[in-house]
Amino acid sequence: SQTDKVRIVEVGPRDGLQNEAKLLPAATKIELIDRLSETGLTSIEATSFVSAKWVPQMGDNSEVFRGIRKVPGISYPVLTPNLKGFESALAAGAKEVAVFGAASDAFSLKNVNCTAAEAIERFRPVLKAAQEHGVRVRGYVSTIVGCPYEGAVAPSAVVRVVEALHAMGCYEISLGDTIGVGTPGSMRRMLDEVTRAVPADDLAVHCHDTYGQALSNILTSLEYGIRVVDSSVSGLGGCPYARGASGNAATEDVVYMLHGMGLQTGINLDKLIQVGRYICGELGRPSESKVNRAWKGQ
Ligand code: HMG
Ligand code: MG
Repeated sequence: SQTDKVRIVEVGPRDGLQNEAKLLPAATKIELIDRLSETGLTSIEATSFVSAKWVPQMGDNSEVFRGIRKVPGISYPVLTPNLKGFESALAAGAKEVAVFGAASDAFSLKNVNCTAAEAIERFRPVLKAAQEHGVRVRGYVSTIVGCPYEGAVAPSAVVRVVEALHAMGCYEISLGDTIGVGTPGSMRRMLDEVTRAVPADDLAVHCHDTYGQALSNILTSLEYGIRVVDSSVSGLGGCPYARGASGNAATEDVVYMLHGMGLQTGINLDKLIQVGRYICGELGRPSESKVNRAWKGQ
């Protein structure tokens, strides 16, 4: 049945590589995405069209996006914080973009240099232009349970942003625990309110693993009927404007858990493991995925 299927949104090439001290060549990023395209993933976030002054790691966005093989049936969303980013993404051939808001003003100011409400206003022309060009728009809400600058975040603040993005026409809204401080307790308090405002079918979760809670938090979201999970191959990731935040839940670990629960992802775990090993080799460090480190093959 439908509810036995979970869609994974692989964010490693974007969330992962935006936070790497080491600047990887575009060719390596392209190779990573092309290899991910062979694993059965259907959504791979490729890059972000943000300011290269702010995030130099994504300064090769057009080159990367143009260079990847676009496999039919796979979506390659890119981040666009404003109309300028959207126009560059469109010129590079993007068919899906993501706008990113936040539930906390302090984080929003650090991340995109404006308040959470101002960021929403910048998204309106993006949604309008996207509609005109037949581009799908995903929405993110960051700091859904905690903010690196303001501390605990009220569920009502999350609801406000989720509702605004949903009403604006985002087809799906990804709930981001940017600094990975959530627990099943704070996730439940947030999801109790958010799933009352927007159906679980239109939601995704995006759990960073800073405090080792990502898998538990993902499991909690499944109990609420959420069936879209963002994760990052080998646990790459973090946000440059959320100091101390570590990577996302590792895709290998998420897939292992979901398959163990009898849920289908369409992903070949063995192939995914090899991609994790490839990119960790390029970065010169061990995988953050426990499944990857333990894997002896099937
Ligand atoms: P700003 O400085 O306020 O922008 O930055 P501005 O509109 O005043 O323009 C200043 C300059 O930037 C101008 O150039 C613009 O043309 C240029 P200049 O005249 O000085 O030469 N500019 C751009 N250049 C390229 N692409 C653009 C763009 N827009 C303006 N799109 C801005 C505002 C949003 C651009 C900046 O703050 C920025 O790029 N921030 C990006 C931050 C970021 O990428 N953070 C990480 C992604 S979010 C995340 O990781 C969280 C997530 O994973 C979920 C979770 O975990 O919670 C999604
Ligand atoms: Mg993130």
